[in-house]
Amino acid sequence: MNHRLKAATRQAIAHIFARLDYPALGRIYCHDGGEAFWRAKRGPSQRWGIKLAGVLQRLLPRDGRSLYVGAGVAEIPMLTMETLELGREVAVFNLRAEEVRVLNQALQGLPFRFVNRDAGAAPGRVDHLWIVSVLNDPERFPNLSALSYGRALPLTFDPARFSVERRLVRHLVDRCLRKLTLPGLVTTSTEEVMWIAEWCHKRRIPYQVSKRDYPAAVVGDPICFLRLGDPRRNVGKSEGRTSTRPPRQE
Ligand SMILES: C[S@@+](CC[C@H](N)C(=O)[O-])C[C@H]1O[C@@H](n2cnc3c(N)ncnc32)[C@H](O)[C@@H]1O
Repeated sequence: MNHRLKAATRQAIAHIFARLDYPALGRIYCHDGGEAFWRAKRGPSQRWGIKLAGVLQRLLPRDGRSLYVGAGVAEIPMLTMETLELGREVAVFNLRAEEVRVLNQALQGLPFRFVNRDAGAAPGRVDHLWIVSVLNDPERFPNLSALSYGRALPLTFDPARFSVERRLVRHLVDRCLRKLTLPGLVTTSTEEVMWIAEWCHKRRIPYQVSKRDYPAAVVGDPICFLRLGDPRRNVGKSEGRTSTRPPRQE
């Protein structure tokens, strides 16, 4: 167990996890086998989330503002840490209305709520963008997701639909990253780093990617951090790497 977070924060996280309606979440996250899914994922989501929240805590200033795109159960420890320990504001978006309802039910007394809206339309500026397992979301971007995760079949893959989805992903990335003040921090998965890198290269904005990545319990995509707009600062304990190479072109 990681003890970087205050005991009160860990307790608040444990209370939220205890109050979550897992049968309802099971129906939202899985076609079938939802209860077994959460029996297996609940503990790791809480434990690994608390560890990651401890890492994120060291990377963020007090009193800033974060935008969370497509946040769910996995993000509860980070949202609790940001608001309770760092006194930060969080704007938290998710397009699944039923999930937002179920998550908010478990948040009595907490200073944040999930909002059922497109995060691209969120108002205001932020110094931290969290976008994890969203740009390869199989529900929103089925063709792009199949390609990203190596599941695309040459016989059935539809390049025209993929092309539309890629345009939507680039548009979402642009709408979210425009809200980031520089220097700023982005948390994403290693699979999604290329979209952030592409956006930076187009605008000649320097960025560093943390060398270390961290496990995620629900989707399972490893999570990493990028520092944008400040090549001198490292991300995380190990040194970040400043990128000079553009991402591979399509
Ligand atoms: C695969 S889930 C990932 C959930 C969570 N981040 C995790 O890692 O466990 C993708 C989520 O992104 C949300 N999403 C996709 N596009 C979005 C957008 N434009 N604004 C807000 N949420 C979005 C979906 O509603 C879904 O809840």
